[in-house]
Amino acid sequence: MLLTIRNLTKSFPGMRALDAVDFDLAAGEVHALLGENGAGKSTLIKCLTGAYRRDAGRIALEGAEITPHSTVEAQDLGIGTVYQEVNLLPNLTVAQNLMFGREPRRFGLIDGRAMRAEARAMLADYGIEIDVDRDLGSYSVAIRQIIAIARAVALSGKVLILDEPTASLDAREVGMVFEVVRRLRDRGLGIIFVSHFLDQVFDLCDRITVLRNGRRIVTERIADLDRVKLIEHMLGRALEDEVEHRATRVPRARPDLLHFEGVGRRGMVEPFDLTVGKGEVVGLAGLLGSGRTETAELMFGLHPAQGGQVRDADGPLALTSPRAAIAAGFGFAPEDRKTDGIVAELSIRENIALALQARRGWARPIPRTEQNRMADDYIRQLDIRTSGREKPIGELSGGNQQKAVLARWLAMNPRFLILDEPTRGIDVGAHAEILRLIRRLTAEGMSVLVVSSELDELIAVSDRVIVLRDRRHVAELQGTRISPETIMRAIAGEVA
Ligand SMILES: Nc1ncnc2c1ncn2[C@@H]1O[C@H](COP(=O)(O)OP(=O)(O)OP(=O)(O)O)[C@@H](O)[C@H]1O
Ligand SMILES: [Mg+2]
Repeated sequence: MLLTIRNLTKSFPGMRALDAVDFDLAAGEVHALLGENGAGKSTLIKCLTGAYRRDAGRIALEGAEITPHSTVEAQDLGIGTVYQEVNLLPNLTVAQNLMFGREPRRFGLIDGRAMRAEARAMLADYGIEIDVDRDLGSYSVAIRQIIAIARAVALSGKVLILDEPTASLDAREVGMVFEVVRRLRDRGLGIIFVSHFLDQVFDLCDRITVLRNGRRIVTERIADLDRVKLIEHMLGRALEDEVEHRATRVPRARPDLLHFEGVGRRGMVEPFDLTVGKGEVVGLAGLLGSGRTETAELMFGLHPAQGGQVRDADGPLALTSPRAAIAAGFGFAPEDRKTDGIVAELSIRENIALALQARRGWARPIPRTEQNRMADDYIRQLDIRTSGREKPIGELSGGNQQKAVLARWLAMNPRFLILDEPTRGIDVGAHAEILRLIRRLTAEGMSVLVVSSELDELIAVSDRVIVLRDRRHVAELQGTRISPETIMRAIAGEVA
């Protein structure tokens, strides 16, 4: 075995994040690490990379016990990590990012030419040919991720850890990154892959290990495991029935809530008309870059629209800024909730109350009992895994932080809530919870706009689906016309 972990244990005040976990990684395999939000995946990885010190247990690399005290030390030992948020420097060139800290020198000075040549050679190894003199920031997330992988492998070279690397990539980009991962596997690296996308796990991985509540539940070859069984291992119970598809029902007549007329902005999205009914879920489908997020941002006043108007039953609304949109009863949970949404040092309760407090004005503080009630309600409804509402939100697992940010917007009780990728990074169990929650809220009269790359989810939740292509709204589907085929055909340009 390349890497052997025995009895790994790690506690935080009041909770045991890892409880006597065993894990093996062979050279030349991709091993998936799966489990619900808060199961302990990131904690295990942080113990491996020296970000956390383990309380007990043994980690051996090629037979020798190791105890890395920092990520640099882990790298020197041969363990490299790439996170979802690429931690490279966008303002430096590709070559500088790749060679940072180990630049080739001549007469004591950095040898720019040698550096560029080496950077090019490194990327050629991965089948990538790009201008290494350009700033890293000018390349797509996928390319940046591959560059991060190339750097991690060059620095470490035995074990590569990928913690939710594909969360913000589209299908083609995922393919590119996987191509690189397979090459590295074939070269004999051991790769640990953390993801909530089961399709990707089945596509890429050789073995899986499931964690639940800090314990190892099972390790198995992927060929010996079916999907339902796998999900049951993750949840610790049988999978509940899928949320009933709304679209199979006859479209309901609803009072109109909002009319968007000729709203658009050059370079972002062409002017579109859209009427949102009260209690309706409108889904936005399309490929990455088709203008979905831009449509959502325009609706929320994040960018001023050029021309057109938005009105409700009382007349035109001036959505010139997010502040104005919030005042008009809009809410927007953006795709990048981790960086956009949370204040890590504040408690879960404070994070949930934050936006509501801002809207009321700081002169009228929300009574503490009210804050407590709100926080407890949402912790229960969204199944936020925590030992209590006073925990700093930064100590929650990634997926649970996202749920807390969603709770913040729900607490505002908006009449129109825009959700950009509401279930990204959220595990299968909580996924169904969130779809159910959207249904309940809309039954109570809230209108919701959902942007999602997951067709199944979009179909399950939407009354109406708008399809975008090349920054244009190209189709609007309702009722039984909503199906994976019709949406895919509209994306491909077959129906108008
Ligand atoms: N620095 C910390 N301080 C306190 N508790 C922590 C800390 N880091 C993690 N935890 C707790 O340890 C548990 C495991 O968290 P971890 O981040 O490993 O989960 P995860 O499996 O990566 O989940 P996700 O899928 O949401 O990313 C959680 O209950 C979390 O709240
Ligand atoms: Mg995690």
